[in-house]
Amino acid sequence: MANNTTGKIDRRRFMGLMWWGATGVLALQTLGATVLSLWPRTRAGAFGAKFDIGKPADYPIGSVTYFSQGLFYLTRVRTSDGGDGLLALYRRCTHLGCVVPWRKDEASEDDLMEEGRFNCPCHASIYDRYGVVHGGPAPRPLDLMAIVQEGDRVLVDSGNITERTTFVDSQVARV
Ligand code: FES
Repeated sequence: MANNTTGKIDRRRFMGLMWWGATGVLALQTLGATVLSLWPRTRAGAFGAKFDIGKPADYPIGSVTYFSQGLFYLTRVRTSDGGDGLLALYRRCTHLGCVVPWRKDEASEDDLMEEGRFNCPCHASIYDRYGVVHGGPAPRPLDLMAIVQEGDRVLVDSGNITERTTFVDSQVARV
């Protein structure tokens, strides 16, 4: 009899421990999944990562090169002191966020080339190679992504985006 009672208590205790154990494991899994889903992740080669542009000399003045994975255009522009350098323009229209395509055959809005500008298809905002607005409702120039040097590599950091109100020389990466 005493053995049976002890056996029942042990079984109950065992079942209780099993239940708490299973509940604990489930809670930990849920917590882990939640933390992982909130943790900022950046995949190499995807928007948010850094992109190696190769040799800066491969981008002549007036050129506009699209990096589809990074969602930016790399343009080489002139500065007021006669120098030049690169801008990485985020392709997102500053009006309502549409993707802004480059139109190489449209009349240019800058003095670097005769043709080429950005035309937003949504409400007709127009930007030049500096990302500066020349028409439409866009309230400010295209946003800039940071251009950084790591050793002898030049990278565009698509996770480092800056808004601006106008173009100034200091925005140009002299590479
Ligand atoms: S979203 Fe580009 S002009 Fe409106």
